[in-house]
Amino acid sequence: MSFLPLQIIMLGYIVFALIVVYLLIEFLVVPVYQYFRDPKGLRRFPTLDRFAGFTNLSFMIEAHRGFRSKKLSTLHKIHPVIRTGPNSLSYGDAQAIKDIYGHNTRCIKDGQYIVTAGTHYHLADVIDRHDHGRKRKVLSSAYALKNLEEWEFKVADKTARLIKHFDAVATVPESTVDYRAWTNFFSLDAIADIGLSHRLGFLDAGDDCCLSERLDGFATEVNFRECLYAVARAQSGIVWSYDWYKTLVKITRAISPYYRILWKLSDNWDGIVLHLARERLKRYEAGEKLDDFFTSLMEDKGGKIQSLEWGEIVAEVNIMMNAGSTTTAIAMANVMFQLLKNPRHLAILREEIDSVVEPDETVVSYDKVRHLPYLRACLDESMRLFPPTAHGLPRVTPEEGWVINGDFISGGTTVAMSAFVAHRDEKVFPEPEKFKPERWLGEEGKALQPYFVAFSAGARGCIGRNISYLEQTVLLASVLRRYEFELPHPGWEPERMETMNLHLGPLPLKVWRRKFSQESD
Ligand code: HEM
Ligand SMILES: *[C@@H]1O[C@H](CO)[C@@H](O)[C@H](O)[C@H]1NC(C)=O
Ligand SMILES: *[C@@H]1O[C@H](CO)[C@@H](O)[C@H](O)[C@H]1NC(C)=O
Repeated sequence: MSFLPLQIIMLGYIVFALIVVYLLIEFLVVPVYQYFRDPKGLRRFPTLDRFAGFTNLSFMIEAHRGFRSKKLSTLHKIHPVIRTGPNSLSYGDAQAIKDIYGHNTRCIKDGQYIVTAGTHYHLADVIDRHDHGRKRKVLSSAYALKNLEEWEFKVADKTARLIKHFDAVATVPESTVDYRAWTNFFSLDAIADIGLSHRLGFLDAGDDCCLSERLDGFATEVNFRECLYAVARAQSGIVWSYDWYKTLVKITRAISPYYRILWKLSDNWDGIVLHLARERLKRYEAGEKLDDFFTSLMEDKGGKIQSLEWGEIVAEVNIMMNAGSTTTAIAMANVMFQLLKNPRHLAILREEIDSVVEPDETVVSYDKVRHLPYLRACLDESMRLFPPTAHGLPRVTPEEGWVINGDFISGGTTVAMSAFVAHRDEKVFPEPEKFKPERWLGEEGKALQPYFVAFSAGARGCIGRNISYLEQTVLLASVLRRYEFELPHPGWEPERMETMNLHLGPLPLKVWRRKFSQESD
C-alpha cells in the first residue's frame, strides 16, 4: 500500500521539473536566443535598461513607477529611438510623427488594442481599416462641426451649473474648490448630455455617485471616476506583455489585493456603461426623438436604421463616456494650473477675454471666444506641456516593413511616440519645459501644428477634438471672466500619475469674485 503515495510523489517531482524546464525555456532560453538571433535587427537600438531587449517586464516595471513618459523623455534627450521591449521601439524625434501616425502611414494599431478590447470593438480600439472606416462614418456625422452649435446650449448649461457652485463658495472667505474634481463633473455631465441626452447631475450634487447595473438588472451605487480610473490603472500596469495579458489579469485578480480592488471597480465601470446604455435605449424604444450620439448609432440622418449589434452600441457608449470625459477634464485643470503659475500670461489672456465679453455675460458664448488667438494658444501650450493622453500609442509596422524617419524598420514591429515626448523635442519646441503660449501665435505657430499630437494625428486622430475645444474654451473664458483664483501657495505643484492618461491629483483653489470698477471696464 505504501508504494502508491511514493509513485504520486515521484510524479509530482516530474511534473514540477517539467514546469521548471518549461519556464526556463519560455522566459530565458527563447528570449536570449531571439535576442542574439535578432531577425529584425533591433539590437542596433539602445534599450530602456539592461533587460528590455529580452523582456517586456522592464517596461512593465517602469510603468508601475507611475510616469513612464517622463523617463522616456529623459532618455530621448540623447537617443532618438529606444528599444522598450523585445519587439517595441519608442521614438523621440517629432519628425517621426507623420511616418507613424500621419495620413499616409501604413502602420496600424497594434495588438495592445486587441487584448484590452471588450466583447465588441469600439471606434478607438478597432484595428481593421475597413471596420474603422465604417464606424467612423457612422459617428462622424454625429461629431461634426455643424453640430457644435446645436450642442453649445448643453455646454452652456453645464457652465452655469458649475458657476452656481463657485458663486456659493466665493462668498465664504478662504474657502476652496477642487478644480480638478469640478472640471471632471463638468466634462462628465456634458458628454452624458451630448452623447446620451442623460442628466448625470454631478455638478448639482457636487459628487459623482451613480448606478452600476449587472446583466441581470441588479444595480448598486458607485463613484463614476473611481470606477473609470481603475480600468486604466489596472490595464496600464500589466498590458505590456500582450501574450500574457489575459493570464496576468487572472493572476492579479487572484493574488494581488491592489489589483483585486481595481478589477472589481473595473467591473463596476462596465456596469455604469450598461446602465446608461439601457436607460437610453428605453427612451429610444418609447419613441422619444432626441438629438444626440446615441440616435446616430441607431439611425442615420435620413432615419435609416443602422442595425448595429447591441454589444457594439454599448462599446461605443463606453468609449464616448471614457475618452469623452477624462481627457478634457485633465486639460481644463492643467491650463488653470499653468495660468495661475504664470500670472503674466494670465493677465494677457484676461485682457483678451474682457475685450469681447459683455459686462452682464455670465456664461460666455462660444462665438465670441472661439477665435481668440491667445486663449487657444494657452490651451494648446498647456496640452503640449501635459498632454492628457501621454501614452505612447502603439502602432505596428506593415508586413513588408516601413521607413520611419529615414530608417527601415522590419514588419511586425511595435512603434510608438508619446505626445509627452514629442512635445519636448527641442528642435521643434525650444525651451520645452517652459509655458510659452506665444509660440502658437501667427505663422510660426501654425507651422508647429503638425507636431502637436495631444489629439494624435491622421486617420486615427481624435474625433472629439472640436467638442473638447468647445468645452474648454467656454468654461475657461467664463470662469476667468468671473473669478480670481489662487493656488495653495506659490510653487505648489499637483501630483501626477500616468496610466493611459497623464492624470493630475486634486487642484484646490481659493476662489472669489472679480471686482470691476466702472473706469477700467
Ligand atoms: C483634451 C481632450 C482630448 C484628448 C487629449 C484626446 C486625445 C485622443 C487621442 C490621443 C486619441 C487617439 C487614441 C489612440 O490612438 O489610441 C483620441 C481618439 C479618440 N477620441 Fe479623443 N481626446 C480628447 C477628447 C475627446 C472627446 C471629448 C471625445 C468624445 C466626445 C473623444 C473621443 C475619441 C474617440 C472616439 C477616439 C477614437 C477615434 C478613432 O480612432 O477614430 N475624445 N483622442
Ligand atoms: C512584448 O511586447 C511586444 C509589443 O511591444 C509584443 O509584440 C510581444 O508579444 C510581447 N511579448 C510577450 C511575451 O507578451
Ligand atoms: C473640427 O473643425 C474643423 C474646422 O474648424 C474641421 O476642419 C475638422 O474636420 C473638425 N474635426 C473633427 C474631428 O470633427
